[in-house]
Amino acid sequence: MYIVLEGIDGSGKSTQIKLLKEWLENNGFNVETITEPTDMEIGRLIREYLARSDADSESMQRILGLLFAADRLMQMDKIESLEKENTVVISDRSFYSSFVYQEPLEWVKELNKYAKVPDLVLLLDLDVKKSVDRCDKKDKFENEAFLTEVKQKYLDLAESYDNIKIIDANNGPNKVSSDIKKEVAPLFDICKDCIL
Ligand code: TYD
Repeated sequence: MYIVLEGIDGSGKSTQIKLLKEWLENNGFNVETITEPTDMEIGRLIREYLARSDADSESMQRILGLLFAADRLMQMDKIESLEKENTVVISDRSFYSSFVYQEPLEWVKELNKYAKVPDLVLLLDLDVKKSVDRCDKKDKFENEAFLTEVKQKYLDLAESYDNIKIIDANNGPNKVSSDIKKEVAPLFDICKDCIL
């Protein structure tokens, strides 16, 4: 199984990934977590570019679109071999992030056509004002106008892709976690009604 958490910056993905991993492990599954951008060469280059003052220019956005797609392909083999050994893979972001952060969409889709499609995508839907308050870096992309657009693009994607489930991330972490578990349980034959 390849499960992905998506959402605007500050939506609580890393906390929820930790809680989901612990819960699946307690239910007897092996779990590995991965992140996009990765900690490999291209991922490091991406983080460097994201911090540049021209990160939001048109040409830099196209360069980032290419780099995100390449960085993603770098770990496809890893995901597949983990799946073969029955390890559950939980990822912080996937190509759906590129669909909502980069543009134009048709070009981004083409670049990512060989990326692995997740079995389940949990979209943590958070109020933009809360997201901005939680973001510490306040970089070029962590502002209300940009994140409002990204949030709407995510919600539009959820209408077109059956594997995307929207989770209300405005609730406290425990409630968000149990909503996530309720979506994940059926994939693993775990009793859904036993989740508090
Ligand atoms: P992330 O590491 O999730 O954010 P943070 O540094 O707050 O933990 O992702 C870094 C940024 O990269 C985030 O603003 C989203 C952006 N991003 C894209 O623009 N396109 C992509 O394809 C991905 C995976 C991330």
